[in-house]
Amino acid sequence: MEEKMRINKYLASCNVASRRKCEEIISSGKVTLNGKVVKELATMVDVKKDKVTVFGKPVELDNSKVYYMLNKPAGVISASKSKYGEETVVDIIGKKEHRLFPVGRLDKDTTGLIILTNDGDFAYKLTHPKYEKEKTYEALVKGHIDSKGLERLKKGVVIDGKKTSKAKVRLIKMAGNNSLIEITIIEGRKRQVKKMCERVGHKVLKLKRTMENGLGLGDLQEGEYRKLTKNEVNRLLR
Ligand code: URA
Repeated sequence: MEEKMRINKYLASCNVASRRKCEEIISSGKVTLNGKVVKELATMVDVKKDKVTVFGKPVELDNSKVYYMLNKPAGVISASKSKYGEETVVDIIGKKEHRLFPVGRLDKDTTGLIILTNDGDFAYKLTHPKYEKEKTYEALVKGHIDSKGLERLKKGVVIDGKKTSKAKVRLIKMAGNNSLIEITIIEGRKRQVKKMCERVGHKVLKLKRTMENGLGLGDLQEGEYRKLTKNEVNRLLR
């Protein structure tokens, strides 16, 4: 959270009302800052120190935690901000007041399930390998993968000089000259699934994350998002 912000933004972040409405309330003289009425919209509030009241009542920032799942389309980056003006997963949800960030990462061309939150502790528990949270992907790979290839993926292969931990892997179907496989991993190394498949001789043509720790996308279409329920949040942490 920014340390200083304009008073109308501050009041909106405290869930007093929309920014526009907050401006009206400020101009009408119903807001005090450290005991003095403020009518000037450009007034800055020090979030940590200043005391603000509206209609005589103290207000506080809304620090509540929020959790969303998004079915990420291809071409969108899994970051809060883009240096190069690309669309981000946070842009899609657009709830700026909560300072959302994505949990873990998906490559720009990868689609599927990504969780966004403002809860750093939750994000840590979902991504750090020591918590062994499963991430499941469907990968369309070039060529016909044989049982030997599937077995190697299961046992772990060396990528970037380090062996990957055990994975669950199954062949869903052969699709023309290619193969569709499901792979579940507990780490989240950069481009891990692509590198693993390449290591056993099969380039990944398409990649989609379908589940995290048992939570799936349901009928959420690409580009759609929804809030997670309390139960789902708890289940993810189990
Ligand atoms: N593994 C990859 O290679 N890419 C992703 O986006 C996610 C997992």
